[in-house]
Amino acid sequence: MKKILITGGAGFIGSNLIRHLLDTTEYQIINVDKLTYASNPKSHSKIKNNNRYQFFPFDIAKPQQLAEAFSLSPDAVIHLASETHVDRSIEDAGAFIETNIVGTYHLLQQSRELYQSLHGTRKSEFRFFHVSTDEVYGSLQSHDAPFSETTPYDPHSPYSASKASADHLVRAWHATYQLPVLISHSANNYGPFQHQEKFIPKIIVSALQLTHIPVYGDGTNIRDWINVADHITATTAILKNGRPGETYNISANYEQTNMEIALQVCRILDELYPISQNPRLASSSPNTGAPLTSYEQLIRLVDDRPGHDFRYANDCSKLREELGWRPQYTHPASLAETVKWYVENQDYWRAP
Ligand SMILES: NC(=O)c1ccc[n+]([C@@H]2O[C@H](COP(=O)([O-])OP(=O)(O)OC[C@H]3O[C@@H](n4cnc5c(N)ncnc54)[C@H](O)[C@@H]3O)[C@@H](O)[C@H]2O)c1
Repeated sequence: MKKILITGGAGFIGSNLIRHLLDTTEYQIINVDKLTYASNPKSHSKIKNNNRYQFFPFDIAKPQQLAEAFSLSPDAVIHLASETHVDRSIEDAGAFIETNIVGTYHLLQQSRELYQSLHGTRKSEFRFFHVSTDEVYGSLQSHDAPFSETTPYDPHSPYSASKASADHLVRAWHATYQLPVLISHSANNYGPFQHQEKFIPKIIVSALQLTHIPVYGDGTNIRDWINVADHITATTAILKNGRPGETYNISANYEQTNMEIALQVCRILDELYPISQNPRLASSSPNTGAPLTSYEQLIRLVDDRPGHDFRYANDCSKLREELGWRPQYTHPASLAETVKWYVENQDYWRAP
């Protein structure tokens, strides 16, 4: 039975990944997560007693802690632990450097040591998988072709620069020490268990609380969205069949402006949970003072983020052609499912 060490498994994507792996494989899962503000214990309540699951509340930037987790001799590492919120990286980049760069370095060192001690199929099948982001490629204009795996890196935020740095370290450990690495660059994810500081949960939570729904700048920035469940099937496909040393973009080709997403979410909420049923019903919109009949009246344009990338779009034909992966979720139906999840699981995001 394979043992997979997952870092950041108490976060949004990591917790969805662990639930998927426990449900669909026989793998043993070792989760190393420092439990920062971004993690939520509620995302783990159903798996914590699974006998194929072990949790270590460790910091990946602390090598002695990592060594304890690596003493279990995993067969693969999927590295998701990261500081992930661009706005926080602009306020204070320190934790991003420490976790995303220094932490990745320590993980690479532990993985290299373990890899060098392995023999036979355990050695040939070992993988170090870095879950990176399409943000390392920088920003596109409307007419530009989507990012491919050969697009030069051009990160603009402290977050994307720290992820780009980590990618360079990962490639260096492959070239120099032959560590069998994989890197993925996913588009923006949405789905259950995402922290409410991120764009789609923030729209939902602000709307349900009848407070302003902030949208940066003029709302025309474009993001490429993917359901987290599709990101996870892409990740498992890359882990199983990706070629060591290679990079794979992940996307479901769903480009939308931020305003389009905000309006879609509000309209889904209008259907699902009309304002007249909202116990916090306010008599008028905090934006205009007009009677509140739709959540979209709560949308407010706010000062743009410094250095805000205009557009992300990811070409994942390599993943489709080489590994036969296809996204399973269609938009906007799957966005509606996600909105429904946040409406039905308010105990997840409301303060305890
Ligand atoms: N969310 C997206 O849209 C998206 C898109 C592309 C790539 N990614 C990448 O996927 C990965 C996971 O993203 P997410 O959205 O789930 O992030 P998240 O912020 O929800 O979770 C990150 C997790 O990492 C943990 N962590 C942070 N610092 C740590 C440290 N020093 N040691 C151990 N654990 C630590 C946190 O406690 C948290 O549980 C990240 O590497 C991110 O760059 C995310």
